[in-house]
Parts: sequence; C-alpha cells; structure tokens
Amino acid sequence: MTGDFLYHSGILRAEEVPIPDIVATVGTPVYVYSSAALTRNLKTLQSALSGLDHRVCYSVKANSNVAVLRLLGDLGAGMDVVSAGEYARARAAGVSGDRIVFSGVGKTPQEMEIALRGGIRQFNVESEPELLQLDAVARSLETVAPVAFRVNPDIDPETHEKISTGKAEDKFGIPCARLREVSREAAGLSGISVVGIDVHIGSQVMALAPFEAAFRILADLTRTLRGDGHDIRRLDVGGGLGIAYRPSDPPPPSPKAYGDLIRRHLGDLGVEIDVEPGRAIAGDAGVMVSSVVYRKSGADRDFLILDGAMNDLLRPAMYGAYHPIMPVREPAPEDAYGPVDVVGPVCETGDAFARRRTLPPVEAGDQVAFGSAGAYGAVMASEYNSRPLVPEVLVSGRRFSVIRPRAEVEEMILRDIVPEWLTGD
Ligand code: LLP
Repeated sequence: MTGDFLYHSGILRAEEVPIPDIVATVGTPVYVYSSAALTRNLKTLQSALSGLDHRVCYSVKANSNVAVLRLLGDLGAGMDVVSAGEYARARAAGVSGDRIVFSGVGKTPQEMEIALRGGIRQFNVESEPELLQLDAVARSLETVAPVAFRVNPDIDPETHEKISTGKAEDKFGIPCARLREVSREAAGLSGISVVGIDVHIGSQVMALAPFEAAFRILADLTRTLRGDGHDIRRLDVGGGLGIAYRPSDPPPPSPKAYGDLIRRHLGDLGVEIDVEPGRAIAGDAGVMVSSVVYRKSGADRDFLILDGAMNDLLRPAMYGAYHPIMPVREPAPEDAYGPVDVVGPVCETGDAFARRRTLPPVEAGDQVAFGSAGAYGAVMASEYNSRPLVPEVLVSGRRFSVIRPRAEVEEMILRDIVPEWLTGD
C-alpha cells in the first residue's frame, strides 16, 4: 500500500478523507482511489524513462473509469486499449487517437474501423489473419494503418499461469521465427505501414530478468528487420511491472531499474519507446471497502461474512490472489489477533477473500479495506448473484467524488426483456 491509505486519529483515511465519510455517502462495498497515488505512480515511471523518446501508454484494462483516465491523460499519458469499449473510454477522457495504441489478440473489423476513423497511434498486430483483415479495413477506408508486430518471445515471466503471455504455448503474438516473413508480407500491403515491434510477456512480473531477455530479443529483431529494409521506429515494450501485495513480498523491480534496463538495451537504437503499464500505476492507488455483515463461528474456524463478494473483487477467487485487509478502525495495541476466514455472501465456496488470515478483532458492522485493489478490481466486477455493480470514488486531498454511483437493482432488471410470447400480451 502507498502512504495514501493510512490511519489518522484511529481511522483509516484515503489521503485526507476518513473512509467512514465515504461510506456514509456511498455505502459499501465501494472502491476508493487516490489521485495522489495515481499521479505519483505515473510521474515516477515517466521520470524513470527520461532521456528516452518515450510515451507511457497506461493499460486501460487495469482501471478504466473515465475519471481515472482523465486524470492520467491530463498528465500526458497515452492509453493502451484492447476493445472498442476501452477506445471509447479513452476518447471520452479526452485522449486523442494519436496517443492510443490498440492491443489484443482478437480485434474485430468493426473495432479496427472505429479506431481508424477516430485516430490511432498504432495497432499491435498479433497474427497474419489479423494483418490481412486490418489491411482490408484500412483500404476500404482509403487509409493506411500503422502497425507494430507483437512477437511471442517464448519467455517465462515467472508469474501466475493465467497472466503469463510470453510463452510459446500462450495465445499471444507472432513467433519470432516468423516475424521476417510476416513483415515482408506486410510491406506488400497498401493498407499497412509497419512502424515497430511490440512485446508483452505477462503481468505481475516481479523480476527484471524476464524483461531483460525480452528486450534483448527486441533489439535483435529491430536490427534484423531494419536490415530487411523495414523502417522500425517504435518499440512497445508492454506492461507487466508487478507490485508487492503481501507485506512479506520482496519489492518489485523499481521503475528506475526498469527504465535503466530499457535504456541499456534499447536506448541506442534511435527508436521511440512505448510502455503499457497498468498495475504499476493503478494497483496500489485503490482499496475496496466492505462491511462485515456477520461474524460466524464454524465448526473449526470463524468466518467474517462481508457485504462485498467475488463479483466485486474477483482476484482472490480467480488467481488465489492475496490482498491485505485493514480494519477501517485502527486496531489497538492490546488487541488480540487471531485467524479468521474472510468471505463474501455469494453462494459458492470459492467466494473467499482470505483463509486463516490473522486479523485483530473485527465484528459485524465494522468495515475493512482490501489494499492494492486499484488495478483489476472494479474492472473485473460482475453482477453475479444479481448484485449490482460496485461503485467507485476518487479522492483528492480533502475532496472525494463519486465517479461511478452504485447501480440500482431496478436498473439491472429493466435491462432484461421478457418476450411477449411468454407474457401473452
Ligand atoms: N499490455 C498488454 C498487451 C496486456 O495484455 C496487459 C495486461 C498490460 C499491458 C498491462 O499489464 P500490467 O502492467 O497491468 O501488468 N486480471 C489480472 C491481470 C491481467 C493482465 C492482462 N494483461 C490480474 O488481476 O492480475
């Protein structure tokens, strides 16, 4: 967690706002983000890359609230998007097309058309069929699509298997061995202009070595493609920098060390460098606050049953991920800590945030905050169990604003349509 979520006078605050003030207005569960943390994380990365011709293209998938995008976009960030929806969010936040890169393994012709019409910095193309499709769409619009080829470097990023993307068995990218051939093919397509190479090996990467291996490959491929006559002027090195979720986690590579590595391997190539971080910017900038509904004694353990669930914060259920849990009321020094299972109300056993977590006494009616929930939190929320989508709040100093209100049950139901042949009307 950053210093933006700290206790003050016995109460957890987001910057200078006591969490209970937010809860009194919005209720729980709720996501709370710190503008100061978002700003600092972006600026730290930007300055770690200083001296390089670079652009930080924030990976929208990590936290796509338009207010968050607006804040980051106003600080000079570009955006990395993977759908027409994310593209529209970035544009709604005031980010111009020439600052948006379009990633993703399955872009549809409709998505390509939207981005080509609206403006785009580059498409990160992941296969030959996609290349041919993009060429056809671009030609039909009488334009030319800027393309970076995403390669699959066959590198193990040493992360959770579900978020590794750089191994040969993963669905992403073009095998390096095929890049020359695909680039030759692209050079003959009038709707395509090859501008660069892209790589993204995975997420929550906690060591520099996998990045270093990928950057070496990028440097080699740049020289090879240039030798073949391609004008490689941009390298997109992807995202992936991890954050420490557990207090006992070794610290992730620092942005400075990461920047130095990029400088060392790619700095002399005379290319623009794009980076696509998500978690490193938004991860520790948010918490999810939830209330304890019941404290229940099971046969062999106690359960804290919260009003937040796996549909609100999926990471523990999906990846077995760890999030720190902080009571909103500061524990007293004499409090006796003990193990407890922290679970949600959803009707499956997988709806558990933590097993046997050592916590101070927390009772029904108390609130807890899940730390490091700013990335891949609200964006992965669903309405499972017909629980309306979780609201979001952005704090800045003493101010806070609701940036997504709590959805109403009524709204949710009104989206469903009962056919007339069922109602007899
Ligand atoms: N660029 C591309 C092409 C990506 O696929 C991703 C993440 C990023 C950038 C940003 O990666 P980051 O800097 O945030 O590590 N839901 C998972 C994470 C999935 C990441 C998917 N791709 C989680 O909760 O851990």
